[in-house]
Amino acid sequence: MVKINKAALIRAAARARKRAVAPYSKFLVGAALLTRRGEIVTGANVESASYGLTCCAERVALFKALTEGKKDVVAVAVVTRVEGGALPCGACRQLLAEYAPDAQVFVADSRALKRVREFSISGLLPSAFVKLS
Ligand code: THU
Repeated sequence: MVKINKAALIRAAARARKRAVAPYSKFLVGAALLTRRGEIVTGANVESASYGLTCCAERVALFKALTEGKKDVVAVAVVTRVEGGALPCGACRQLLAEYAPDAQVFVADSRALKRVREFSISGLLPSAFVKLS
């Protein structure tokens, strides 16, 4: 099991945030996932003129990781410019519950990267729906 370097993961999310494509909300979000093998996969939110097609930073990072064969996510960091950091939305919580159920979640404000709040996926989405059978 990799040692989780929380500060490094938060910094990776802060760097990824700078690549957000958010011309409508101007709300830039960066995410960084850490795998059990110590790899970091990042993502940022991408918005559409058809607003509902927007994809959150967490999901961009998760979809990247999954489709690169990096499936054992042990931690997720999310950085936004909001007091205390913003928590993953319901849709992202669902996907994280399915594909990274045991991951720790770290959130921070981009202006205060050292102040990190921590959560668990099961705490964020208790009794998640994860299987059809
Ligand atoms: N957003 C994220 O990327 N992650 C979250 O956890 C919450 C919201 C994005 C979606 C949209 O581009 C913008 O933030 C405003 O909602």
